[in-house]
Amino acid sequence: MNFQNKVVLITGASTGIGKELSIILSKRNCKLILIARRIELLDGLVSKISHNSNSEFLTLKCDVSKKEEVTEAYKKSIDKFGKIDIAILNAGFAENMKAEEYNSELAETTFGTNVFGMIYWVEQLLPEFIKRRNGFIVGISSLADNRGFSGSGFYCASKAAASVYLEGLRVELAEFNIKIITVKPGFVKTPMTDKNDFYMPFIMEATKAADIIIKGIEKEKRIIQFPFAVVFVTKLVGFLPGKIYEFFAKKKIL
Ligand SMILES: NC(=O)c1ccc[n+]([C@@H]2O[C@H](COP(=O)([O-])OP(=O)(O)OC[C@H]3O[C@@H](n4cnc5c(N)ncnc54)[C@H](OP(=O)(O)O)[C@@H]3O)[C@@H](O)[C@H]2O)c1
Repeated sequence: MNFQNKVVLITGASTGIGKELSIILSKRNCKLILIARRIELLDGLVSKISHNSNSEFLTLKCDVSKKEEVTEAYKKSIDKFGKIDIAILNAGFAENMKAEEYNSELAETTFGTNVFGMIYWVEQLLPEFIKRRNGFIVGISSLADNRGFSGSGFYCASKAAASVYLEGLRVELAEFNIKIITVKPGFVKTPMTDKNDFYMPFIMEATKAADIIIKGIEKEKRIIQFPFAVVFVTKLVGFLPGKIYEFFAKKKIL
């Protein structure tokens, strides 16, 4: 797969990984649809990168947790470019929470963005992808999808849901030649992690993460996960019996 002349949609393109993906793809001669709520950031990005680019751009304000906004943004994308070839569903939300501040609204925002933000886009994309018998859906999940980490229960659960959902889609849509790619990054330096006050092992720059993701999509990998050390450790942690995991987690070793 290559990005030349493809119509590529990126959600959560205003900052972090999505922004870096947009910058890389701006040089790949494609038609880019950039989505986020802060349209001013998207427009600012485009005015910065478009002079040194061979791609075309469409920026759209859309809250991915709102089905009607996703429907509207899809319509506008099709009006402008006629189709979408690759959708990178990257928009995400994470906030740690202490038990004393327990608040279900945070769960609604987390699942609304990280899970329904994907589901609503897939609902729009599928009919045309199935008719055409091709298309790529790239969902950004996380290596935090395999255990419940203290203070991040909503986030971990939402990423577990995203990963399992994408796996089911991959199996189901293979017969329609629709490729589903799951991306599972470790820690990446972005506004999302800038808020964290804990140690983040092997944290990498967003530019590097975006480069790994683009190369992985080009190779049509099923799962793009990085960096290796964190993949290895999270796999091991995933295998730990619950009691042992909880013992180390309570001591804040995990
Ligand atoms: N950074 C990490 O260590 C890490 C690790 C694993 C996975 N990830 C995943 O990678 C993805 C990108 O995260 P990031 O680290 O680049 O974080 P980020 O810099 O905070 O970017 C999040 C992006 O999502 C957009 N967004 C959030 N809520 C939205 C909504 N309701 N509707 C539309 N757009 C929304 C934000 O734009 P607006 O606020 O302008 O809407 C922003 O562009 C997320 O799915 C995240 O869970 C990150």
